Amino acid sequence: MIAKPALLHPADYLDPGLHAAEQAGIFARHWQFVGFAEELAEPGRFLTRQIAGEPVLVINMDGDLRAFRNVCTHRFARLKVAEAGQDSGLRCPYHGWAYDREGVPLGIPGNADCFGLDRAAKQGLALKRFALDRIGRLIFVRIAAEGPSLADAVAPHGELLQRLSDGFGPAFSQVAQPWAADWKIGIENVLEVYHVDAVHPESFRSVVDGSWRVEYQRPHSIGHAGMRAEALRWWEGVGKRLGLLAVPGLDHYVHLHLFPNLAIGITAGRLISVQTYEPTGPGRFTLRYRLCLALGGKQGAARTAVENHLTALNETLLGEDRAIAAEVQIGTASADRPALLGANEDRLMQFHQTLLALKNTHRLASGTPPSHPADEERQENRI
Ligand code: FES
Ligand SMILES: [Fe+2]
Repeated sequence: MIAKPALLHPADYLDPGLHAAEQAGIFARHWQFVGFAEELAEPGRFLTRQIAGEPVLVINMDGDLRAFRNVCTHRFARLKVAEAGQDSGLRCPYHGWAYDREGVPLGIPGNADCFGLDRAAKQGLALKRFALDRIGRLIFVRIAAEGPSLADAVAPHGELLQRLSDGFGPAFSQVAQPWAADWKIGIENVLEVYHVDAVHPESFRSVVDGSWRVEYQRPHSIGHAGMRAEALRWWEGVGKRLGLLAVPGLDHYVHLHLFPNLAIGITAGRLISVQTYEPTGPGRFTLRYRLCLALGGKQGAARTAVENHLTALNETLLGEDRAIAAEVQIGTASADRPALLGANEDRLMQFHQTLLALKNTHRLASGTPPSHPADEERQENRI
């Protein structure tokens, strides 16, 4: 008899204790994509993110990109509240402590009279700094102080990421939306095209032809879907009309999953959708996606019309995925065994295997009692 691979248990998608363990054991340890360099192009430009429970500020300090804990070391006000913006410097909104490029509070109003902090004491009050690295225009942050380099972490896909960085322009559409589902349900949804006929009969089904091939590079993977002839013709026409320079070697629809939560869909070498699935609690995450066209061509009415069309199509198909993901989350609460995965869902099996292996390596475990304490075997399979 063929042994069935161990799979995640439904409780793994619901448990608050496991959510906390994943934040510490997965999201703090892995490089997280935070945005494109052009979003941080000038001094003072910043992004804020929540990574593994840490409020993170990514900011251009006099031309250098830095990642700090987004919390003032005086009385812990958040330094920046907006998700993105530009300020003249890094100054706390509460009492006005001003931080230098190293995150040291050199400007403290009333310091001599009230605190008497010398330079060494101020250095002791520096903002916590996180690792930041980039591949081309793609900026990543890692919360854990130690870990593999970004190049090692994304291998063997560093060259592909560089090609995407070089070949595609800035985002013409950028959205962050809450999903009522565990981040793993969001990822699993994009690891197969089995659901396309049922969930996207009018939207994504008009793009892909149903064929599917997967290449594995543990813990990452790439899916290749054939595109329908009409969709390819549409992209040929649009590409010519707008002067887009198709990125070679990326025909049809290519879907890269970089573990744990970065997914990039590439359509006909001319469109990318860069998606991050950011856990915000047990059973919920924020999907952040950016759409970018290949370089080339000029701005103008024709291009705006194409961008609007692609934005609307993307909104429709993600709305369809978002609705079904919420239903899966609800249903998962009543399930008492792992899902049944077919051969066309083998990419999910690898995802489960990676998560279960992390359990063994990092001893990821729930801090709360399991939902079904009687079932010891289920416990075995929980990450
Ligand atoms: S909390 Fe930031 S200056 Fe007081
Ligand atoms: Fe989908």
